Amino acid sequence: MSYPLDREVDHLLNPHRSDWGKALAGLQACEQDWFTARLKRFAGDLFDGFSAVYGERAGFQALRHRLLVLLAGAFADRPKVLRKHDLERSMRPDWFQDPHIVGYVAYADRFGGDLKGVRDHLDYLSEMGVNYLHLMPLLKTREDENDGGYAVTDYREIDPAVGDLRALEGLSASLRQRGISLCLDLVINHVAREHPWAVAARARDPRYQAYFHMFEDRVLPDAYERSLPEVFPEAAPGNFTWDRMSGRWVWTTFNSYQWDLNWTNPEVFFEFLEIIFFLAAKGVDIFRLDAIAFIWKRLGTDCQNQPEVHAITQALRAAVRIVAPAVVFKAEAIVGPQQLAAYLGVGDRAGKVSDLAYHNSLMVQIWSSLASRDTRLMTQALRVLPKKPPSTSWTTYLRCHDDIGWAIDDQDAAAVGLSGEAHRRFLSDYYAGFFPGSHARGLVFQENPKTGDRRISGAAASLAGLELALERDDAVGVGLSIERLLLGYALVLGFGGVPLIYMGDELAMLNDYDFVKEEGHQADNRWVHRPRMDWAKAARRLKKGTLEQRVFTALKRLIQARKSTPQLCAATPVWVEGQDNPHLFAYTRPHPTGPLVAVYNFSEEPQGFSGDLLLRRGITNPFERIESRAIALEDRLWLPPYARMWLTHAG
Ligand code: GLC
Repeated sequence: MSYPLDREVDHLLNPHRSDWGKALAGLQACEQDWFTARLKRFAGDLFDGFSAVYGERAGFQALRHRLLVLLAGAFADRPKVLRKHDLERSMRPDWFQDPHIVGYVAYADRFGGDLKGVRDHLDYLSEMGVNYLHLMPLLKTREDENDGGYAVTDYREIDPAVGDLRALEGLSASLRQRGISLCLDLVINHVAREHPWAVAARARDPRYQAYFHMFEDRVLPDAYERSLPEVFPEAAPGNFTWDRMSGRWVWTTFNSYQWDLNWTNPEVFFEFLEIIFFLAAKGVDIFRLDAIAFIWKRLGTDCQNQPEVHAITQALRAAVRIVAPAVVFKAEAIVGPQQLAAYLGVGDRAGKVSDLAYHNSLMVQIWSSLASRDTRLMTQALRVLPKKPPSTSWTTYLRCHDDIGWAIDDQDAAAVGLSGEAHRRFLSDYYAGFFPGSHARGLVFQENPKTGDRRISGAAASLAGLELALERDDAVGVGLSIERLLLGYALVLGFGGVPLIYMGDELAMLNDYDFVKEEGHQADNRWVHRPRMDWAKAARRLKKGTLEQRVFTALKRLIQARKSTPQLCAATPVWVEGQDNPHLFAYTRPHPTGPLVAVYNFSEEPQGFSGDLLLRRGITNPFERIESRAIALEDRLWLPPYARMWLTHAG
């Protein structure tokens, strides 16, 4: 089929046009053909997104042309070895949906000391079965407080404390050899106040002032504030900061030293496209689009999830498909359940924006059901969650380096007879350890008295009760906490999508209260769950009878079971099942090789469910895949406390 755009692209590719000619001249004819074919395939998505945002600008035709020249140049510069990688990935564009994919998330310095140290520990990851590694911010950051690296001063330099660009290239080559994909953060909502763009803006350079949202007086900031929430109400109240040097109010959604970028300015778009290609050429496979929900501002709204966010992502995504098809995007949009699906694409943008997005709702519901021992809210919330396009995946997780915000939808809560507000309050109380009988040891993060919002910091094992049980020398409690942790991970590994193991959870590492001793960390208690890897503890995974061995081995077993279960492919739908027991959570994954029914017990009592659930789905001869054993189909099947079962038809 020929699209009208084809002709335009052919015209632009005419070798007599000098700028194109120059960019593509050094390539072989077949390489030029790859580029042209991809350009023709994705130019529609590219221009659709790009013109939705910048189409009204004067000189738009010149911008379009500039964009195409940039793509040709980036393609010509793409290292040969990565072009081969692109070709291989093009044969399997659904690679990230495969049940073989298992992710691990760590800070380079906390995991390995530096990039070389990370390289030295790759056997540990391979032993677990990990083939996707998210190394948290490692680009050059401000020296002072830097929000864990999310205040970048140079997107083309590595933080000298962890290495340099050569070390990154070396690491990414080793990872590729092992079949491990590398994920890095792309902080696109803001830069550090010390980034050269901000430095120039502070020095009143109008070109760079236009990179930011700067205001001479409080009129507009006050107008925006009326509908803006606060992300860090304790540490950084308000969304604007007075900058004395420039004599302007600057938009700073997060900390005062993180300056929000102005994406209405196409120069910002071009800057980031070039940064993406620069880092992709160093071997990055997945870009985590940090705080993407915030990049577009609109008066009278909460300035999150605006339609332009998705148009911009679509344009960036199409550009990357043309130049570097091995690369995918992951949206870090920690937003309400109803806003989430748009990050994977709804309507015309389905499958054209990010390939991956954090399943924040699943994470919240796991902790909610563990606290209440009741799965009705979870069943409701996950049933009504808008569906994702089949070509995309969730990234599923139990914990990450951030706090947990209780993204419980009021309507979902009401549908199961709960008050959303009261339930959120309960969850904060429970995980802060205030609620009578709570086993959790979390810390309240950024309490907001205006909204009653209290988010929670804490390591998974501490939130699951292990810290308290160990302190009390309570062997039963230790056992139950480990089962809670494994239950959470079983759901993360079995729900659908790329599961992410957060560093230390594989060893049930606890809260690290020493964070208060570290310069710049005292005021941010998220550091309580960002420990340094304890390699002595890791070594105990090999010693029989240790807690570490118990957790690590059980997790490894789950990973192996996942890898041999085709139903867990992310493209397979998830049908959340209603069933007769409010302590159990169940879903079916229909698949050409036969269905899988997964059942999870969220209580510390044995729980039963009707065998009818399996029969209805056509499983008459059940086989449990985690423990790898046949199960007798009875009227009522039983799960021990916190047990999980992945059931398929035997044979
Ligand atoms: C993301 C990061 C978080 C950071 C914020 C601002 O949400 O995960 O750690 O504080 O962005 O960059």
